[in-house]
Amino acid sequence: LRILQLASITVHLLAAAAWLGSMAFLAAVLVPALRGRAAAERRELLAETGLRLRGFVWPSFGLLIVTGVLQLYLRGYRWEDVTGTMWQGPAGHALAVKLSLFALALALAGYHDFGIGPAALALPPGDPRAESLRRRASILGRVVFLLALGIFAAAVTFVRGGLRP
Ligand code: HEM
Repeated sequence: LRILQLASITVHLLAAAAWLGSMAFLAAVLVPALRGRAAAERRELLAETGLRLRGFVWPSFGLLIVTGVLQLYLRGYRWEDVTGTMWQGPAGHALAVKLSLFALALALAGYHDFGIGPAALALPPGDPRAESLRRRASILGRVVFLLALGIFAAAVTFVRGGLRP
């Protein structure tokens, strides 16, 4: 059981690192590297990388949920606690913050990755609608990144018993 718990936490942390790492790579490496390139080339490279990253990040969300639920189980949480004691006390509050931020991040990332991101890249460069979609996708991407930082902070707080004086 101990091995299962350690393996599950390792996978959980690797999946979390993969998610944050791929967002950081896109925002801090790829997008700046493409600045100054021809619009068509930039669009092509972003579409290709974006699609590949999407195929890599969404399975890691699945892993985060499966290993996260398993860890809650191994920590002694049971199904009936979901409607009661699970959210109480400092640790419960941190868990509630973490899972709420996660739900929000999942919804916004879905809208970004499957909605406005691909829509912006599908329009020809110079199309004013593409410009506005691109701007919205960029803002949404930043919001999801900030949510990810919040999820990490809440996760670290939860594991250490929550915010206590
Ligand atoms: C994007 C989503 C997620 C991220 C980035 C994330 C990140 C993390 C991190 C960084 C830790 C380690 C904290 C530490 O050891 O200091 C952690 C632990 C944990 N996470 Fe997540 N997590 C995510 C989703 C979930 C979900 C969906 C659940 C539950 C349904 C969950 C449940 C847990 C639990 C129970 C632990 C404690 C593990 C232990 O026993 O030490 N996580 N998470």
